[in-house]
Amino acid sequence: DRLPALLAAMPKAELHIHIEGSLEPELIFALSQRNGIAIPYAGVEELRRAYAFTNLQSFLDIYYAGASVLITAQDFYDMAWAYLRKAAADNVARAEIFFDPQTHTARGVDMATVIDGLHRACADAQKQLGVSAALILCFLRHLSEEDAFQTLEQAQPFLDKIIGVGLDSSEVGHPPEKFARVFARCRALGLHLVAHAGEEGPPAYVWSALDVLKVERIDHGVQSVRDAALMQRLARDRIPLTVCPLSNQKLCVFPDLQHHNLGRLLEAGLVATVNSDDPAYFGGYINENFTQTFAATGLGATQAYQLARNSFEGSFGDATQKQQLI
Ligand code: ADE
Ligand code: ZN
Repeated sequence: DRLPALLAAMPKAELHIHIEGSLEPELIFALSQRNGIAIPYAGVEELRRAYAFTNLQSFLDIYYAGASVLITAQDFYDMAWAYLRKAAADNVARAEIFFDPQTHTARGVDMATVIDGLHRACADAQKQLGVSAALILCFLRHLSEEDAFQTLEQAQPFLDKIIGVGLDSSEVGHPPEKFARVFARCRALGLHLVAHAGEEGPPAYVWSALDVLKVERIDHGVQSVRDAALMQRLARDRIPLTVCPLSNQKLCVFPDLQHHNLGRLLEAGLVATVNSDDPAYFGGYINENFTQTFAATGLGATQAYQLARNSFEGSFGDATQKQQLI
C-alpha cells in the first residue's frame, strides 16, 4: 500500500496549528526548569497521562496551564522552531500559525516578546528549512471584546509581522457576534480574517462567522453538515474549512475516526483541508492526521491530491507563491 508514502511525501499547507498546542511535554519541563516555574506534574509521563479529554474545555484547561512556562522571546522561538522542523519533515511548504497572545500578556509577558520570538522562528524557517511561515493572532473568545481591542492595540506596532486574526478558545456560549466590532476594525486594517466555528458549536455560529465577522476561512466547521443551506453556501463561495481529525477524535466531537465526516465534506464539493490543531496534545502532527484518517475512513489518492490542492488554494500566501505550490 503506497498511500501512506504519498500522504507523507506530497507538499501541503498547514492552515490550522496553534503554536502553544505544539509544546511537547519534554519542552514544557525544560522551560519550567529554565524559568523556575513549577508545574503540578511529577514528570513527562504523568503529564502525558493527563491528556485524556472529554470535550474542548477539558483540553483548554490543561493547554493554558502548559503555556504558563513560556516567558522569554527565546522560549517562543524554541517552541516555534521545534514545530517548524516537524512541519518541514512532513513536507509542509506553507504554515499559517495561530498564537494566543492574551494567554501570555495576562501573565505579564509583553506582546513584543511573544511576536519577536515567533517571528524570528518563521524567518529562519524560510531561510534554513524552505518553509514559508506566517503568523495569525487569535483573540480568546471567552474574554471580552474590550480585551480583544486592547490586544489589537498592543499588536499595532507589529502588524507587519502578522497576516491576520482569528478567534479561538471556548466556543459554545461565545458566538462570533460578540466580536463583530473588533473584526470590522481588523478588516479595515487589511488583515486576513478567520474564526473557529462549528467545532462543538452549531451551524448558526458558522453563518455568523461568515456574515457578521466576514471571515475568509472557517476553522473546523465540521458541524456544518447539519445545515444543507450552509453546505451550499460554503461550496458556492469556496470557503475553506480547516479540519483537524485527530483533534475532533480526542475532544470527542466524533466517537472515532471512522465516523469523521471529512469524506462527506469533500463529496459536497467543499474546500476542506487536513490540519493538526494542537499536535502535542492530540497524538500527531499533520502527516499523522492524514495517515490515520485515511486508514480509518478509506479515503484514497484522489482525495489526497484534492486535500493538498485545497490547502494551497485556502492559504493566504501571495498569488505567485500559491501558483508555484499548486
Ligand atoms: N485553542 C487551541 N485549540 C483549540 C481548539 N481546537 N478549539 C478552540 N480553541 C483552541
Ligand atoms: Zn484550533
